[in-house]
Amino acid sequence: MKAIMLALALCAGAAAPSFAQVQGFTPREESPEQWPAGEGRDETFYMCTACHATGIITRAGQTREGWDDLVTQMVTRHNMSDPDADFRKLMVDYLARAFPREATPQGGWRNPFAPTR
Ligand code: HEC
Repeated sequence: MKAIMLALALCAGAAAPSFAQVQGFTPREESPEQWPAGEGRDETFYMCTACHATGIITRAGQTREGWDDLVTQMVTRHNMSDPDADFRKLMVDYLARAFPREATPQGGWRNPFAPTR
């Protein structure tokens, strides 16, 4: 019985490496200063990075309308708190200036299921 317990303990240990054991991976600190300067940058950064890293945003160049839709999507689909009109305008204006659609080589995020434009 003792041998079985020991074997189980060893297996459990081997099957559950702690995150500390993942070698060579250090999550990078992100800060608003990494985004283009502009009015609303800090507010937008802190609102939008509560749930995901910034790459998902900085790679998603959009028109102003596209960013407005994305904010709505974050609220309706992902449960982001609904910003009031002023705050929404501040964020959408900033996002459209900082991450315009033209800035991404493929012209912004595309729905892979939509017909090609
Ligand atoms: C309450 C959590 C939450 C907040 C706050 C939030 N998002 Fe998201 N966002 C998500 C989730 C969940 C996904 C989809 C899962 C994923 O791809 O990581 C997502 C995905 C995205 C995507 C990828 C496109 C898509 O439809 O999947 C973009 C772009 C994006 N978010 C932008 C933003 C912006 C801009 C803000 C700030 C206005 C924001 N998010 C704030 C939860 C959030």
